[in-house]
Amino acid sequence: MASPIMFLTLLFSAASLIAISSANFNQDFQITWGDGRAKILNNGELLTLSLDKASGSGFQSQNEYLFGKIDMQLKLVAGNSAGTVTAYYLSSKGSTWDEIDFEFLGNLTGDPYTLHTNVFSQGKGNREQQFHLWFDPTADFHTYSILWNPNRIVFSVDGTPIREFKNWESNGVPFPKDQPMRIYSSLWNADDWATRGGLVKTDWTKAPFTASYKNFKAEACVLSGGQSSCSPSAPAGSRNSWLSEEMDSVSQERLKWVQKNYMIYNYCTDTRRFPQGLPTECKLP
Ligand SMILES: *[C@@H]1O[C@H](CO)[C@@H](O)[C@H](O)[C@H]1NC(C)=O
Repeated sequence: MASPIMFLTLLFSAASLIAISSANFNQDFQITWGDGRAKILNNGELLTLSLDKASGSGFQSQNEYLFGKIDMQLKLVAGNSAGTVTAYYLSSKGSTWDEIDFEFLGNLTGDPYTLHTNVFSQGKGNREQQFHLWFDPTADFHTYSILWNPNRIVFSVDGTPIREFKNWESNGVPFPKDQPMRIYSSLWNADDWATRGGLVKTDWTKAPFTASYKNFKAEACVLSGGQSSCSPSAPAGSRNSWLSEEMDSVSQERLKWVQKNYMIYNYCTDTRRFPQGLPTECKLP
């Protein structure tokens, strides 16, 4: 028969495993603005942002990351969300910052959200790709992920890759790889441009608008006191580590499917916008 001590030891190690794997917004994030409009609920399991006529709200991660595979589940503003923007992104600081963006542009009830993505390196963006989604992002939580390693950035939705930005530094395209980034999110009013280019205004009679977050998960390199410590799922360099993860052929096919059926804007095909020629990375495989 197992001794009571053994039983207790088992119990404690099971508890600490759970503590490691379940994210806690109280521990991993801080609310940065919105004067009470952002809330951490259910002992840190749920975070909600809200927006009314007076203000939006936002939060940021406690940690700074230098590469990571970061998942967050979001449930977006339901009903008439026209004019609202929910931004969820990674960003470094300073005038030559790096940034990896998801932005969700609201719409009239029944009209599709636009998922806007961008990548900034050394302060320069202009790399927008926009998508509609193959589900209603306001009905349930869905997982939005960023894989950021030294070779690529992959944006995924529920495990389906929607965009890949490769490291083309050898061709002179700067790639985010030296500046640690924090995770930021905010819900704000952008009815001067967000919905149909600003034609549809926010309906304040429907305020407050709310977006919800749960199940944050990061396998990442965390910076603290100038030291970086990584949490690889498998030893670095091994095939399964996020640090060296590539897109396999199944992922490539799914990416093509999304780009063919759901992409509504791609800077790489906008020749009118770049009369001097498309950006270098658009001409590479
Ligand atoms: C809103 O719906 C219209 C009509 O379907 C669509 O053209 C547009 O891309 C949608 N999104 C935004 C943000 O306007």
